[in-house]
Amino acid sequence: MSYKCCKYIHGGIAFRHDAVSLCNKLCGTKRYEKFNIPYTGNFYEKFIEVREEAIENCKKGILPHEGCLSCPYVEDKEWDDDTRFREIEITHWVHCNCSCCYCAMLPVTKGKKTIFKMNSPYVVLLPVIKRLLKENRLHPNAFFSITGGELTMLKEFPDIMKLLLKQPGTSYGFCLQTNGMKYEKLLSKAIEKDNRTTIVISVDAGSPELFKLIKKRDTFKDVINNLKHYLKDAKKCGREDKIVSKYIIVPNVNDKKEEIDKWIKICKDIGIKTLQPSIEFCSQVVNPGTFKESQGVLYHYMKNQIQANGFKMITYDFLETIINNKSFDITIKN
Ligand SMILES: C[S@@+](CC[C@H](N)C(=O)[O-])C[C@H]1O[C@@H](n2cnc3c(N)ncnc32)[C@H](O)[C@@H]1O
Ligand code: SF4
Ligand code: SF4
Repeated sequence: MSYKCCKYIHGGIAFRHDAVSLCNKLCGTKRYEKFNIPYTGNFYEKFIEVREEAIENCKKGILPHEGCLSCPYVEDKEWDDDTRFREIEITHWVHCNCSCCYCAMLPVTKGKKTIFKMNSPYVVLLPVIKRLLKENRLHPNAFFSITGGELTMLKEFPDIMKLLLKQPGTSYGFCLQTNGMKYEKLLSKAIEKDNRTTIVISVDAGSPELFKLIKKRDTFKDVINNLKHYLKDAKKCGREDKIVSKYIIVPNVNDKKEEIDKWIKICKDIGIKTLQPSIEFCSQVVNPGTFKESQGVLYHYMKNQIQANGFKMITYDFLETIINNKSFDITIKN
């Protein structure tokens, strides 16, 4: 059946620190409040009800809220009848073992501690994931994005991962975003299982000094060693290109060509095949409100260097829009 919808309404579920949500939009207009169901009482049933209503409304030609009208994720196409969850996001914000100067949680953690425990008493994911499996609500080729805080510090993570990896008749893909300070062999197991899986480590520096300034921890060498470890694991199944090193350009911190060059050289020396250039886009953290042009200039420099050095490159699709429009609002048309 053909209608206007987005992949998140059709098959998305996002576990955030304070609520389970339908809209996974990364930046731009605000997420629709009605789609955020706090983890209290019968939140699971409420969520299922809200999404079913949203899908039915889309079929009738009604998008759920005005933010959706200008959202780049809306597509007018043939949507299949299988509305099991295919896009699962886990943004738990429970623990982290460092304190990056650009972290979206900085306004909460105030950057005072290197290990923080977040305000997330309700995030208990394992029972919900077990229920989704029992009720056959997960698509057999679902894709999981596991992100902030730090997945290697999340106590439930090993049990969740083991449970998902052993499901018969499934092949789940994962985007596993980690700061790389702690090695976790289950990440390599996930790479072995599905060729969509990536391990993304945000290095953000080419030297231990700058790394320490950004992360408040002196663990640059550990991160590089762990990258090597993951590369060695991935080599066994011919998937070294799934280990990604990332650099987020933060104005007045690491916005230096020499540092970018050093990062690229180190990545090349240790055998990284794929790089991800990025810019700091949670503008309330380091870069309040306004887009800094230096980010755009350096982003393009970084892209050129990555390509000139023969790496594969992955990027967020909305970064070009931010840079072209000089605005973090991705709903503004070019
Ligand atoms: C919130 S982090 C959590 C995962 C993990 N702790 C890490 O830092 O890689 C998820 C991803 O978002 C990126 N990120 C965090 N804050 C950002 C910001 N202000 N602007 C752009 N990317 C950011 C991180 O580099 C990471 O790749
Ligand atoms: S705002 Fe965009 S991503 Fe969120 S529900 Fe609406 S169309 Fe989907
Ligand atoms: S490692 Fe990730 S979660 Fe931790 S402070 Fe840095 S960006 Fe935030």
